[in-house]
Amino acid sequence: MRVNKVIIPVAGLGTRLLPATKAIPKEMLPIFSKPIIQYIVEEIALSGFKEVIFVTHSSKYSIENHFDKSFELEATLEKRVKRSKLREIKAISKLDLNISSIRQGEALGLGHAVLIAKKLIGNEPFGVVLPDMILSDSLENKKRIFFKKMKNNFEVNNHSSILLARAPKNKITSYGVAKLKKIIKSEGIKYGDIEKIFEKPSLKKAPSNLFAVGRYIFKNNFFKYLESINPDTNQEIQLTDAIHEYILSENKVVGYIYEDEYYDCGEWTDYLKANLALSFSNKEIKKDILKFLKDL
Ligand code: UTP
Repeated sequence: MRVNKVIIPVAGLGTRLLPATKAIPKEMLPIFSKPIIQYIVEEIALSGFKEVIFVTHSSKYSIENHFDKSFELEATLEKRVKRSKLREIKAISKLDLNISSIRQGEALGLGHAVLIAKKLIGNEPFGVVLPDMILSDSLENKKRIFFKKMKNNFEVNNHSSILLARAPKNKITSYGVAKLKKIIKSEGIKYGDIEKIFEKPSLKKAPSNLFAVGRYIFKNNFFKYLESINPDTNQEIQLTDAIHEYILSENKVVGYIYEDEYYDCGEWTDYLKANLALSFSNKEIKKDILKFLKDL
């Protein structure tokens, strides 16, 4: 079955990046020349999906505006003959994607945000993408995008799947951490069925260092489990808890292992690393910055 729709939950408060995110959504903070969310939406379009659903909050209207056509700006750039900028601006609203949004009134957790989008998904399978996790595979070589592979595989085998990456020891306790039954290697990809997954486990309880890196594809029956999950001690409905229940009820979830670079732009260190890494695509900037860092 084809999977066309992707939910991007952007209704969180972004407290780790305060005060920068007091009035600006974290998804709109720039990484080099583009806001974070543009990298994410471009990856989804390049992966072949047809529709993006933002689960959003009243304070985050600038995200939707960013993907809208901007007549005034385009007219001004045209008049001033700024052709390359005009091309770039036009390309944003011309992405081959239908973009819609729905509000999450209260930030009751990532799982709750995904559930809010249910009425726009209908009976179809769907993807979920976290808006602050930039994966380098989508930047370097469009043919290697892992999310595209996940989509293609789903359309052949109809199995829900999650992308996993390795977390350093000091960050394991911040993520949803999974254990695979057995790791298989085929055509350069490592993967396996997920046996269990825990949200923010203690180091002692973490079943591995493989964490959910923000790319998911679910069969539609996953909603049933999301609906039945109780809130955690912070009163949030966790996506990870629903995945755990889903697996316990004999639903297969494949964990693919992503081994390239990732940037968790919801926290400062990775946000700054992403800025450096992506700005280095410009040779002049790279030369200047490397010199600057050497002299620091
Ligand atoms: P995070 O845990 O990163 O939360 O949520 P956050 O609010 O964005 O950031 P911090 O932790 O306060 O710094 C993971 C994703 O789920 C979305 C967030 O927007 C983020 O993309 N989310 C979270 C929602 O859409 N609604 C929620 O109720 C919670």
